[in-house]
Amino acid sequence: MGFIAYSLLYSIAKGDVFGKDQPIILVLLDIPPMLPVLDGVVMELQDCALPLLREVIPTDKVEVGFKDLDAAILVGSMPRKEGMERKDLLKANVAIFKAQGAALEKYAKKTVRVLVVGNPANTNCLIASKSAPSIPKENFSCLTRLDHNRARSQVAMRCGVPADAVKNVIIWGNHSSTQYPDVHHAMVNVHGKEVEAYSAVKDDSWLKGDFISTVQLRGAAVIKARKLSSAMSAAKAICDHMRDWWFGTLDGEFMSMGVYAGGNSYGIPEDLIYSFPVHIKNKSWNIHDGLPVNDFSRAKMDATAAELVEERDTALSFLSQDSGFESRLCRSRRTHGSRPSPLPSPYGSCSDETRL
Ligand code: LMR
Repeated sequence: MGFIAYSLLYSIAKGDVFGKDQPIILVLLDIPPMLPVLDGVVMELQDCALPLLREVIPTDKVEVGFKDLDAAILVGSMPRKEGMERKDLLKANVAIFKAQGAALEKYAKKTVRVLVVGNPANTNCLIASKSAPSIPKENFSCLTRLDHNRARSQVAMRCGVPADAVKNVIIWGNHSSTQYPDVHHAMVNVHGKEVEAYSAVKDDSWLKGDFISTVQLRGAAVIKARKLSSAMSAAKAICDHMRDWWFGTLDGEFMSMGVYAGGNSYGIPEDLIYSFPVHIKNKSWNIHDGLPVNDFSRAKMDATAAELVEERDTALSFLSQDSGFESRLCRSRRTHGSRPSPLPSPYGSCSDETRL
């Protein structure tokens, strides 16, 4: 159980993600040495006395952890240390996400919605999707909402407005230092009036320079300062991402999400998980088409795409050397029927639950 999962569980269990009337079952999958720690987390969740939480299932068995999943949050991977680039993680993590994709294929529902958080998240997500060929590609996504929130907050602080006064920032591409945080289409509500971000900020050189690098390098800055990677903000972003996937985006707003690039209208190579602006309705996302792209943006969108192509090709070349399953993760499962519990549950059996 890593820090992100630990920070995430309370919000999900209390109904912040899947709704205030949605009973929850949490399924926590980890490697065998972590099972005693999971038992402690189970105790804490019980001690929260949360009305929606019906069952918590700690396990180290994929056939238990992935069975009948409706939602899966793949948090675990080898973490990035100070000085490491995400690419350094690729080899270790490709094998993990191949195994998890295969487990989703075998045990989860075909309607499962998958969010990959472990880095390098885009490529891990692509590998998981390729390892689960009977699950639609559209059901796989990776987390760039953390970058989206970072961009939103940077602009809001600069303008002296709350974060929710800024909308329609975009993160294009990879969840890495090549990502492109773009505010050309963002709006800021200043004293009740919506204005374009460039007019609200009134500092083009900041928006084209330090703003972009601050967001691109924020993960590394947090690691440097905390000696640990982001956990609270990552957990918040996971909740935002999954809640929007479940309940949809607001009219007139798009959010950033790493999704399958097939059929995109922005000239991004198809066989990638790339972060785009998306609208979500009925648990289905659509890329927001038709935004004008200037030369400045084009170059940055292409650069991050090129990094993803390289990561994908490297990952695919590693796939023949599978180093086995080794991971920490937590997942969400929603089911509409009761099922036998593999472990004694203090909550008894129930139906129509969300499982994490
Ligand atoms: C983050 O963005 O904070 C995390 O993905 C950690 C990292 O490696 O940057």
